[in-house]
Amino acid sequence: MRRYILAITGATGVVIGLRLLEVLAESSEVHLIITETAREIIKVETGLNLDDDQGGSTVQEKFGEKVTIYSDDDLWAPMASGSFLSSGMVIAPCSMKTLSGIAHGYANSLVERTADVMIKEGRPLILCPRETPFSVIHLENMLKLARAGVRIVPPVIGFYHRPKKVEELIDFVVGKILDQLGVGHSLFRRWG
Ligand SMILES: Cc1cc2nc3c(=O)[nH]c(=O)nc-3n(C[C@H](O)[C@H](O)[C@H](O)COP(=O)(O)O)c2cc1C
Repeated sequence: MRRYILAITGATGVVIGLRLLEVLAESSEVHLIITETAREIIKVETGLNLDDDQGGSTVQEKFGEKVTIYSDDDLWAPMASGSFLSSGMVIAPCSMKTLSGIAHGYANSLVERTADVMIKEGRPLILCPRETPFSVIHLENMLKLARAGVRIVPPVIGFYHRPKKVEELIDFVVGKILDQLGVGHSLFRRWG
């Protein structure tokens, strides 16, 4: 079974990360990091409260042993070390603050440190940065990361598959991320 690391950070569009979790967990082991702000935004955007025991265990109950959840301040977690092997890491959605931390090698949280490890080890790292409009600072940080081999996959939607529902738009973005990870899917109809 393949092993992936997924981080959900404090940007709007947390449903993208949650849908990705659902799809990846169908066939893979997933190590999940949710930042403090992301937990708050999950509450606002989905109604799911991960802070109370019931909410926290809901995720664990749904996915069982396939998903392991970590706190963003847990720098002792296995993936903070390059010796922990994985097939790739996705940060979706990725806030501009986390993007900046990664671009500057700050490594002050589990998300930033794990991304730093992925880059130094030359392993797949995919970011789904969510902000609009992007400032020069955001764009320079993205360029720096792209030059380091990081795949930048913003939640930019295509319309050639004629989406009718929000779920289809989400699946389009999630499918694009999975394409970069090399994970097969049928979340949207391909051109041609
Ligand atoms: C409701 C809400 C929505 C936000 N949306 C975004 C966003 O879309 N993009 C972004 O870069 N920051 C956004 N922020 C700001 C980040 O959450 C903030 O910079 C935070 O420090 C990010 O921390 P994290 O990356 O550790 O989760 C949002 C904050 C809130 C409260």
